[in-house]
Amino acid sequence: MTDRSLSIVILAAGKGTRMYSRQPKVLHQIAGRSMLGHVLALASGISHAKISVVIGPGMDDVRKEVVRWSPDASIFVQENQAGTADAVLAARDQLVAERGDVIVLYADSPLMRPQTLAKLVSSLESGAGVSVVGFEADDPTGYGRLLTDASGDLIAIREHKDASADELNVRLCNSGVMAFRLPDVVAVLDRIGNDNAKGEFYLTDAVEIARRDGLKAAVVTCEMDEVLGVNSRDQLAVAESIWQTRARLAAMRAGVTMIAPDTVWLSFDTVLGQDVTIEPNVFIGPGVTVGEGVWIKANSYLEGADRKSAAGLRIDTGAEVGPFARLRPGTELGADVHIGNFVEVKNAVLAPGAKANHLTYIGDGTVGAGANIGAGTIFCNYDGFNKNRCEVGAGVFIGSNSALVAPVRIGDGAYVAAGSVITTNVEPDSLAIVRAKREDRPEWAAKYRAMMQRRKG
Ligand code: UD1
Ligand code: CA
Repeated sequence: MTDRSLSIVILAAGKGTRMYSRQPKVLHQIAGRSMLGHVLALASGISHAKISVVIGPGMDDVRKEVVRWSPDASIFVQENQAGTADAVLAARDQLVAERGDVIVLYADSPLMRPQTLAKLVSSLESGAGVSVVGFEADDPTGYGRLLTDASGDLIAIREHKDASADELNVRLCNSGVMAFRLPDVVAVLDRIGNDNAKGEFYLTDAVEIARRDGLKAAVVTCEMDEVLGVNSRDQLAVAESIWQTRARLAAMRAGVTMIAPDTVWLSFDTVLGQDVTIEPNVFIGPGVTVGEGVWIKANSYLEGADRKSAAGLRIDTGAEVGPFARLRPGTELGADVHIGNFVEVKNAVLAPGAKANHLTYIGDGTVGAGANIGAGTIFCNYDGFNKNRCEVGAGVFIGSNSALVAPVRIGDGAYVAAGSVITTNVEPDSLAIVRAKREDRPEWAAKYRAMMQRRKG
């Protein structure tokens, strides 16, 4: 270990023109979190690191996203995009103040594993002045090539546009992630020029400068799927797919059963307990925690956070959900609750053993332990202006096709007759029945048919 300080500089100034989006590229999401959020989480994994983010002018939304995930991070603006070295130097004040090690990450490469970052740090510990994360590319086109000597030390990084025919054959490529342990990193970056094919200040030139100063440059390698850079929406989808594959694998290895893993979508913060079973075609959005032994049946949609609310979604031990269920933010399902097909639950707490098995909307309310909500029940929570609550007591039985017009309370143990519209409170253990009185007219239908046939004939 070392007592040197560590700064992580995250480059996020790119506009991302190839996304064809009104949104800056790094705000596009993987698994329900922005790419920038993923990279900030990776950086935060190194506890003593000071994080800086370099953004472009006017990127207020990016600034907010930095504050959301890393309130302590410093934000710097790169005024003109003059190259990756220029971008790092936008954080000059931070680097001068710290005078320690520096790691550079790209905010549009959200898939690097913490282990790779750890390897990069330890290569500085073992004597490298500059260390680069490299990978063997199937197709190296467009990447900077890592030129190494016989002992594997790094000699230089040659950008594709500046490479000779021989150098173009090199398949060991620069991921863009670099680390520096230099007596004065700012002085080295200041020596970088822009005499190259793109007329840009290349961060990669730091390798040759450091070597001329007698320092060692090293390569740390990782799998290609860790260094995927996202420039377009099709690459965003590839990154999403890689992320999902990893997350499903981790879940299954920790004791979750997935019948068709390729059809299950998880989020960056999904928590799945042991012996959870997930059937095919299930989408789990952000903010969802699923307890042990829960069974999520096919075609269900669960989310604990959406554009309006981040109230979370919790499902306790042994509950069953779906098929075709929709669970929204603020839902808490107690142990052994059953939520069946075409049931939607939002901002509602269901106590253990409660059941709503078919065709129901439970919004803004509570359902007591063991209560049974019949098919077609609607919590009428919205009056066009305000959201109101329904409170359904323990052991209540709501007959099919009832409407509970909030605010309203159904006392413990009460019955509501099928088809009732309940607008005022129901006392515990009583029966509420709200129906028009039935009228029977014997033989009416037969007479009616006979009359109509006479008229036609
Ligand atoms: C860079 C590397 C290349 C590597 C590749 C991996 C350099 C000179 N080249 O090339 O060796 O193989 O990444 O993907 O570093 N950025 C800024 N400000 C700038 C310029 C860039 O913030 O002025 C950001 C971009 O938004 C992007 C990242 O830095 O996130 C990389 O820049 P880009 O121009 O895409 O570099 P490449 O040509 O891909
Ligand atoms: Ca790039």
